[in-house]
Amino acid sequence: MIRDVLRMGDARLLRIAEPVPQTLFGSAELQALITDMQDTMASLNGAGLAAPQIGANLRVVIFGVGANPRYPDAETVPFTILCNPVLTPIGPEMEDGWEGCLSVPGMRGLVPRHARLRYTGTDERGQPIDREVSGFHARVVQHECDHLDGILYPRRIRDLSQFGFTREIFGEDLADD
Ligand code: NI
Repeated sequence: MIRDVLRMGDARLLRIAEPVPQTLFGSAELQALITDMQDTMASLNGAGLAAPQIGANLRVVIFGVGANPRYPDAETVPFTILCNPVLTPIGPEMEDGWEGCLSVPGMRGLVPRHARLRYTGTDERGQPIDREVSGFHARVVQHECDHLDGILYPRRIRDLSQFGFTREIFGEDLADD
């Protein structure tokens, strides 16, 4: 079911989300939440969504970016369901990149993120996930996991002159990610 996405200013986006308890892995309840997250993300052409964005205060994120014929050089990210994530940066390198967010519709900002990192966690059945990633994949994971700690990307922008409406910056409306 497609759910409403909370928007910046809603206090529920500022909470520290609760870990998914062991008892919830493999349950119909968790599967229903994830199905709603997938439906909602797909309906908005998003690259990722965190459970708090639909009002569920749990440490669950989903993300994934398929091949887009309009952007043949864009990096793809495998569709992933990630519960109770732990992120560990690899090395000191940071990279600036433009981000949008379904909770901040119509806008983009230039955000520094760790260029490489390892992330661990589990899928919705409790099976372990352990990956080392870089570039766009690393950026998407950092953006989504920030939502679990109540952080929206505008708080990460270092130079607020690099924050504005997508159409004004890029000359066209783009998906909100
Ligand atoms: Ni977001």
